[in-house]
Amino acid sequence: MTEKVLAVNDLTMHYMTRKGPVFAVDGVTFHVDRGEAIGLVGESGCGKTSIAISLLKLLPNNAKILNGEIRINDTDVVPLTDSEMNKYRWKNISMVFQAAMNSMNPVYTVEEQILEAMREHMAHLSDKEMDEKIDHLFTLVGLDPTLKDQYPHQYSGGMRQRAVIAMALSCDPDIIIADEPTTALDVIVQDAILKRVREIQIELNMAMIYISHDIAVIAEVSKRVGVMYAGKLVEMASTEAIFHRPIHPYTMALMSSFPSIVGEKADLVTLAGEPPDLLNPPPGCRFHPRCPYATEICHEQEPEFKDHGADHFAACWHPGGEK
Ligand SMILES: Nc1ncnc2c1ncn2[C@@H]1O[C@H](COP(=O)(O)OP(=O)(O)OP(=O)(O)O)[C@@H](O)[C@H]1O
Ligand SMILES: [Mg+2]
Repeated sequence: MTEKVLAVNDLTMHYMTRKGPVFAVDGVTFHVDRGEAIGLVGESGCGKTSIAISLLKLLPNNAKILNGEIRINDTDVVPLTDSEMNKYRWKNISMVFQAAMNSMNPVYTVEEQILEAMREHMAHLSDKEMDEKIDHLFTLVGLDPTLKDQYPHQYSGGMRQRAVIAMALSCDPDIIIADEPTTALDVIVQDAILKRVREIQIELNMAMIYISHDIAVIAEVSKRVGVMYAGKLVEMASTEAIFHRPIHPYTMALMSSFPSIVGEKADLVTLAGEPPDLLNPPPGCRFHPRCPYATEICHEQEPEFKDHGADHFAACWHPGGEK
């Protein structure tokens, strides 16, 4: 039996807005094994960051987890208070934010910021050991350790991104969530950092959730991939199966827009229209207004997210476009 570091069951959260609740994460179930890297893909606004901040319980005031479990090493953290949750953040689950550039404090040196988390969670280490650990982390992410006493503004964008990754690694987390960690960087720097992240993840046997709307990036770093659409996880399978044998029409459409990855023989499914407004999502399957295979049942009943064999999960009434 492989051990699960994270098991998410039927997670539902919403944001309260003046126009009503926005169901950004709706009934999402998945798990991550120890040391496993998974990817989460989906169009802008489908709820990827909302899942990430729910897992860490770093939610804005207008957000609420309404249902479900988030088991970290088998403890459900949903009922925990903020101070109880603090024991898990950094130590068990840590995150590299989408706007990582802004997640550093400009008035402290990079070293001081990393030390702050380590003093709280790695108190068993001596000052000297912490110092050595920071040097090691810097080397690991490809930064010169002599730069650790500089301030974030003295770093380039790529260096800051590496520093934020070092920070997320500082307390040896079981799982790290990387939310579009490289999109603000130029392609060459992006590629170098991605390769490093992948190597570190394997070397430290750390589990990872890699979030991106770019499936080429996801393919490079993940063993399994979850595809999100309008607040729902609609398909999850091995990276290979998602790319070569997708069964949800939304995934099929996503993949056919990347023939360079999946090869020419993939059936072309093109996507018309826009993702729905999450204030007022369509009934039944949320994808039905854009789905070329939709029938009456898709308008009326929500398909169950279920195993179609070999750990290939999908929520669809017409998997693979079948009648
Ligand atoms: N603080 C908030 N208050 C109200 N609605 C919000 C808030 N944050 C996000 N949303 C809404 O929740 C939905 C999901 O947003 P989320 O940021 O999770 O998407 P995403 O998949 O991460 O998108 P992107 O690829 O652009 O980062 C969107 O409809 C968004 O407008
Ligand atoms: Mg996001």
